[in-house]
Amino acid sequence: MTKHEKELYNAYDSVESKIKTKPSIALVLGSGLGDFADCLEDKTIIEYKDIPGFPVSTVSGHDGKYILGKLYDKQIIAMKGRVHFYEGYPIEKVVMPIRLMKLMGAKTLIVTNAAGGINKSFNPGTLMVINDHITSFVPSPLIGTNIESLGTRFPDMSNVYDEDYIKLLHDISSECGIEVKDGVYLQTTGPNYETPAEIKMFGALGADAVGMSTACEAMAAKHMDMRIAGVSCITNMAAGLSATKLNHEEVKKTADMISDKFTKLIKEFIKRI
Ligand code: HPA
Repeated sequence: MTKHEKELYNAYDSVESKIKTKPSIALVLGSGLGDFADCLEDKTIIEYKDIPGFPVSTVSGHDGKYILGKLYDKQIIAMKGRVHFYEGYPIEKVVMPIRLMKLMGAKTLIVTNAAGGINKSFNPGTLMVINDHITSFVPSPLIGTNIESLGTRFPDMSNVYDEDYIKLLHDISSECGIEVKDGVYLQTTGPNYETPAEIKMFGALGADAVGMSTACEAMAAKHMDMRIAGVSCITNMAAGLSATKLNHEEVKKTADMISDKFTKLIKEFIKRI
């Protein structure tokens, strides 16, 4: 067993006794969905800092706990706070929380985030259903000895985001009057925002939105054969596409403004899967 694999199963042993009911749906709460867990019933909270070997977030506005609970009679595990590669953790540590949720029982993963808009038809406040991603600018979380108990050495990535889930998000969008767009999410290492030249390049490569998380989590989840849905909240137009300077406060402000719509979309999605 590799060190990381040992750490993972050790972490699992430490949380197993705290889980009353196995979760089936895992949800990563990005900016804009931070209060989502308020709608869960029968909550159990597990702080990341109480899990041995677990990465703990250092970013302002990012909490650090799992919140387990029930919504529409479905068992959910939500991550309030995620860790980012730019915090200095090795990439396999960044995806450890996702792997642990799979070990706890989750078969579906819903990833959400705040992102900068590259597609010129987007505005701050647009919700983008992720239909594919580009991870080529960050190391793969699958590098190193393969953890055979999780998945295969060379996993296929042709359909990371489940097609039925993408369709369902669009159905909900038209039925509930919540406008969504579709697009490709590109992950950078961060923590700096991009230069206008980089944004031009990412656009030419096919990216519609850019951010500092998510794609590596989706990749680790796909390796474990989870069904994945992803939604980005476009909090700002990316560098060079608007006159406004980028800053974290602005990102948080737009994310808060859109949170009611975002919450409604995700709640309805959970209801229907
Ligand atoms: N770039 C990278 N990450 C982001 C952005 C951005 O413009 N907005 C929110 N997260």
